[in-house]
Amino acid sequence: MNTGLRGRTALVTGSGQGIGRMIASCLAREGVKVAVNDINLDLTKDSVSQIHSEAGEAVSAPFDITDYRAVEKGVQAIEEQFGRVDILVNNAALLLGHHDFIETSPADWDREIKVCFYGALNCCHVVAKGMVSRKSGKIVNIASDAGRIGQAREIAYAASKSAVIGMAKSLAQELGQYNINVNAIAPAGTDTPLRQSVEQKERERLGEEKYRERERKILRLYPLRRIGRTEDIANMVVFLASDAARHVTGQVISVNGGYAMPG
Ligand SMILES: NC(=O)c1ccc[n+]([C@@H]2O[C@H](COP(=O)([O-])OP(=O)(O)OC[C@H]3O[C@@H](n4cnc5c(N)ncnc54)[C@H](O)[C@@H]3O)[C@@H](O)[C@H]2O)c1
Repeated sequence: MNTGLRGRTALVTGSGQGIGRMIASCLAREGVKVAVNDINLDLTKDSVSQIHSEAGEAVSAPFDITDYRAVEKGVQAIEEQFGRVDILVNNAALLLGHHDFIETSPADWDREIKVCFYGALNCCHVVAKGMVSRKSGKIVNIASDAGRIGQAREIAYAASKSAVIGMAKSLAQELGQYNINVNAIAPAGTDTPLRQSVEQKERERLGEEKYRERERKILRLYPLRRIGRTEDIANMVVFLASDAARHVTGQVISVNGGYAMPG
């Protein structure tokens, strides 16, 4: 399969760890020059070093995606280094944990929605300007099955992922005329620092025995009987960012071991 990716440039948000780091690495292995964004500078440097150690091209792009001005400045700096941004992957997110809705506060909702939804909106708005003028671009949004089928005890997070899906479909309708593809990927459970920290809190809340029982029940919800790995998501990003997916836009693709099968 000719991906047509060699020499292209990408911005991957939240790629200092987890799924984002793997997306950045997999794109770099295809010959893409990658801007590694994260709010945590040290994490961006680690991801960049890892890509350099595999002879890939990457630069550190630390900025807070919830701050529109910071996104503008950050993207400007990337465009100065790489010339343009061909591929935007909106991956960064924040999940504060699993909490009963009535125990959460407006401040909690604000934090999650700002990163998960406004962050993606900010990056699309800033990056799409160049894509529209060049009449070319790929935008891949990492949503979640939580945004497709709902998720108890993750209300604001799930709602913001539904918003990302609505944004992706609407942008696909508006930007298709400029040869810009916009899609969303919906992972279910995927082994990353985010999931590990949420799971650790559940382990402490339930105790070891009940936690193990919960784990077994969760696995039974996955027909393939496994939790996802970061490369499962990254491989789909590579496909959607490539020329092979030129006729795919406005779609939400679950990469989830069969956890949910929305019609
Ligand atoms: N891990 C899962 O089980 C799972 C399931 C469904 C969907 N997802 C989605 O996959 C994506 C990646 O998740 P992950 O598990 O790798 O998460 P993670 O928490 O391990 O990594 C997210 C990264 O985003 C960064 N970030 C947070 N706020 C930021 C901001 N304001 N600006 C820039 N960077 C910021 C963090 O520093 C972190 O490095 C997210 O969109 C998440 O919602 C993950």
